[in-house]
Amino acid sequence: MSLPTVTATRYVLPLREGGSLPGVVEGNDLGTYVLKFHGAGQGPKALVAEIIVGELFRRLGLRVPDLKLMRLDPVIGKSEPDFEIQELLLRSAGLNLAVDFLPGSFGYDGSAGNPGDEGMARILWLDAYVANVDRSWRNTNMLVWHKNLWLIDHGAALYFHHSWMSAEKFAALPYDASDHVFSVAAPAVPALDEELAAAITPALLTQVIGLVPDEWIDDGDRERYFSHLTARLENRSAWLPGGAR
Ligand SMILES: Nc1ncnc2c1ncn2[C@@H]1O[C@H](COP(=O)(O)OP(=O)(O)OP(=O)(O)O)[C@@H](O)[C@H]1O
Ligand SMILES: [Mg+2]
Repeated sequence: MSLPTVTATRYVLPLREGGSLPGVVEGNDLGTYVLKFHGAGQGPKALVAEIIVGELFRRLGLRVPDLKLMRLDPVIGKSEPDFEIQELLLRSAGLNLAVDFLPGSFGYDGSAGNPGDEGMARILWLDAYVANVDRSWRNTNMLVWHKNLWLIDHGAALYFHHSWMSAEKFAALPYDASDHVFSVAAPAVPALDEELAAAITPALLTQVIGLVPDEWIDDGDRERYFSHLTARLENRSAWLPGGAR
């Protein structure tokens, strides 16, 4: 199984609130997407984390906008006046990650879209598992759309891959839940632990890692993502928010 692939047909506008300068782009399937570029400062590993984490969360029942691969010919940005964007498009020729654009959504700020105690605890457990440090009140990386909560921007998770720290080290890495938007739900996390851990089977991990295109990953890396995520799953007392089970 692989992610669907579409082709970019029009660069609409840059999303300047995103540090990696994602753009709103139209595809040849007439869809509108937020395009995250492999040529951005964070590099293709941020896109690898987006796929593995986003697709894992989706399969565990959370709302994540659809992800597709998008072929980019930088010529579609030729009328874009900003030199920085021209350069980003040139560096990003080829495959990039397209996130389904949620029109009219707004950033979660606590005023709407709260998923309830169990929902908050579920998100906290999962962010702790994948070491996602990018879900604070400063930048919640969650959108409210049609009154529901949608999770975006998982590019900073799985940060072991930047230096390839060992699986043992990643497994033992604590998680600072105090900075998380849903830190108040920490006491409800241990009650969900067995259910979530049991749902993350070896087959599920293999499946989501398998969705990353060969352009951004080699087979040795696929094995490493698998071993790191498995080791962390088996060592939950090191990072579980809300204390011992
Ligand atoms: N699917 C989407 N639909 C609508 N708006 C979106 C979507 N994805 C992202 N955005 C908007 O674009 C902003 C930047 O997106 P995102 O957080 O994915 O980019 P980033 O460059 O990784 O950002 P950061 O600065 O958090 O690292 C979001 O905060 C949100 O306002
Ligand atoms: Mg963001």
